Amino acid sequence: MTRSRKPADPKTFHIKSFGCQMNVYDGERMAEMLGARGLTAAADGADADLVVLNTCHIREKAAEKVYSDIGRLRREDGTSPLIAVAGCVAQAEGAEIARRAPSVDIVVGPQAYHRLPALIEQAGRGAVALDTDMPAASKFDALPARARAARPSAFLTVQEGCDKFCTYCVVPYTRGAEVSRPWGAVMDEARALVDGGAREITLLGQNVNAWAGEDEAGRAQGLDGLIRALDRLPGLARIRYTTSHPNDMSEGLIAAHGDVEKLMPFLHLPVQSGSDRILRAMNRDHDAAGYRRLLDRVRAVRPDIALSGDFIVGFPGESDADFEATMALVRAVGYAQAYSFKYSARPGTPAAAMADAVPADVMDERLQRLQAQINADQLAFNEASVGRRTTILLERAGRHPGQLVGKSPWLQSVHVTAAGARIGDMVAVDIVSAGPNSLAGALVERIAA
Ligand code: 5AD
Ligand code: SF4
Repeated sequence: MTRSRKPADPKTFHIKSFGCQMNVYDGERMAEMLGARGLTAAADGADADLVVLNTCHIREKAAEKVYSDIGRLRREDGTSPLIAVAGCVAQAEGAEIARRAPSVDIVVGPQAYHRLPALIEQAGRGAVALDTDMPAASKFDALPARARAARPSAFLTVQEGCDKFCTYCVVPYTRGAEVSRPWGAVMDEARALVDGGAREITLLGQNVNAWAGEDEAGRAQGLDGLIRALDRLPGLARIRYTTSHPNDMSEGLIAAHGDVEKLMPFLHLPVQSGSDRILRAMNRDHDAAGYRRLLDRVRAVRPDIALSGDFIVGFPGESDADFEATMALVRAVGYAQAYSFKYSARPGTPAAAMADAVPADVMDERLQRLQAQINADQLAFNEASVGRRTTILLERAGRHPGQLVGKSPWLQSVHVTAAGARIGDMVAVDIVSAGPNSLAGALVERIAA
């Protein structure tokens, strides 16, 4: 029996997160919770008593990856760690996971992971320990307070779920309806992160710009109100947010890009397609021209803003003309970076039942053309930075001795040789060269906190 050879009382754990930044955030919260219960983090899954696979269900390739990963957890001596599948595959497939992969002990959804300790106790008593509830009470209330930030740039989930129901997307089913965390909880967590050493906070949500709440005085606020309050938080140097929907881009949020000093000049605003016909079939509820007008308004208040987006090629029924409309939109916008994906039919979504699938070779060809355009625009954006003096937040060590890597305000990676500077420092640099994926900077000076 596999189960009898599993650790009954795990002392060490390893969490592997796939997919979006929200999973990274959830992985950190799980790690902090297990740490608070006396478990220690193991460097990798090979020698951990408990392995948590924090999964992504957005495309088929991501969802299938979990099964090959589970297979790889079997050790040469025939033993296996306790295996927990968390995240969106857990939510979508539930107990089915354990039928397909009997070595799985725990299945826990993204709204239930605060109950992981109880599931660990339950594991190994026969059936898989399963919790894919979406309880009304927020998991955040049950989690321990934030531990000291491990990184100078921290994530903070302020909103989860999605009510938009784009026809290709599993998120409304795996993450549930749109929920905003309360103002006070967000501000408390932001303060804890800054006290723990974070200099930059990225506010996360599947539809982060749909965040809505009330401030301490009971006034209705949107994401821009939250950003303005964070702008006043001493010790915090930078604010970012992701991911946004064009239809929730409020007047106030656009204005914030013009006058909130700590709000970084970067906007990830997915449009998915440049064809109005396809946008309608996707249930996006906006057209390409409206999207471009929106970007013009943002650029009017913040001309240097770096724009980013997501694109899907090969949505059912996408014709050559539809795809050319996407190419035209991409060329017109000039993205600083963008993500593009081949359409992947997801079980249970309306698009999965649509006719006129695009053949695989056509999808491949379209993706290649789109990515070539995006890469060229990204390189052009980076090259335009050369000669500029800017500030970077140092986030990690580089490959060469004395080299550190940080982010520019426009979210570009910048390599700099800076003896004496440390991770977490803000430094002024002159950008001296640019490649497709990163810049090189020459150190000017360290900027005092
Ligand atoms: N197929 C391909 N890409 C998808 N995305 C979401 N669902 C699918 C799907 N079924 C992409 C969208 C979204 C990003 C997170 O993933 O572009 O913005
Ligand atoms: Fe998915 Fe659309 Fe919601 Fe984004 S806005 S999470 S693509 S349903």
